[in-house]
Amino acid sequence: MKHDRILIIGAGGQIGAVLSEALREVHGTDNVIASDLRQLDGHSGPTEILDALDASALEAAVKKWRVNQIYHLAAILSATGEKDPMRAWDINMRSLFNVLETSRICNLKKVYFPSSIAVFGREAAHRNTPQYEVLIPETVYGISKVAGENWANYYYRRYGLDVRSMRYPGIIGYQSMPGGGTTDYAVDIYHYAVQQKPYECFLTQDTSLPMLYMPDAIRATLELMEAPANRLSVRTSYNLAGMSFTPAEIAASISKQVPGFRITYKPDFRQAIADSWPASIDDSAARNDWGWKPEFDLDAMTKDMLHHLALKYGLKEVV
Ligand code: NAD
Ligand code: SER
Repeated sequence: MKHDRILIIGAGGQIGAVLSEALREVHGTDNVIASDLRQLDGHSGPTEILDALDASALEAAVKKWRVNQIYHLAAILSATGEKDPMRAWDINMRSLFNVLETSRICNLKKVYFPSSIAVFGREAAHRNTPQYEVLIPETVYGISKVAGENWANYYYRRYGLDVRSMRYPGIIGYQSMPGGGTTDYAVDIYHYAVQQKPYECFLTQDTSLPMLYMPDAIRATLELMEAPANRLSVRTSYNLAGMSFTPAEIAASISKQVPGFRITYKPDFRQAIADSWPASIDDSAARNDWGWKPEFDLDAMTKDMLHHLALKYGLKEVV
């Protein structure tokens, strides 16, 4: 049986670091090539330094490793993007075009391109935001994801390239640190809590956002990529939901495990970004088409996060 060979772009990031190892478990260590701008350490399989803005280097890597799938995770996220919008647009779009064109030219089997809840803006329904909703994002990151989703759909319809995508909510995990998003507080807070430190949150206490625990996010990605093509009715990007909570609610969940945990609030520019995003997401298309179902709720995630971070910091168990 011919194995799939996968190139991950942006494998050094929050999601890529975890997804690389998960893909290696499924496809075999040597069949997953983890790439990023910088040298990747601690990987069990092959790695490559690759700038996704360099189209010839990307094509050369695809040929060198005889790749037949690309997972394109490299992007500038919402908060970092607002600091230099033109740079964010250039990186997010040019890297995606290079991936789509290389995949078309080299006749690749499948491409994965994550989108985000950042595609939505204030005009969208705030709660239970539907799959097909008005998309007027307020960040350059969100604009690049809306454009990216439409290009993914274009390459599928025009060239038959099997591009698959889902709109991740804020992703929370203990294995890696987030890379400049608006939902990053929900990772940082656990690192403070486990070390018995108070946390100053950059969002207000009542800002509800959609979130997803890393094991669910990884499983969703694998399930979407393995689903039969004829089950997929959405070729832009699937809505995906896990849980929704506010900073006050995550602090309360932590307090059950870490008595006396303290949180204060000092909203910054990320508040306006969060205010433009949905509070919760309707992911019924993903559930119906490929059987998506999250496993972790807030308290289950808190317990698991604190357990693993305590081990990571060499601390006595907090739970
Ligand atoms: P991250 O910022 O942690 O990692 C991105 C990685 O891409 C970094 O390691 C960076 O070095 C690399 N990179 C940047 N420019 C590159 C280039 N030109 N060539 C090669 N590599 C480059 O991001 P993440 O949180 O792991 O997100 C991965 C993907 O998932 C992104 O597309 C992001 O938009 C999407 N997403 C993430 C979240 C989340 O909460 N983490 C939510 C929604 C969508
Ligand atoms: N977690 C991401 C961000 O905050 C959402 O795409 O930018």
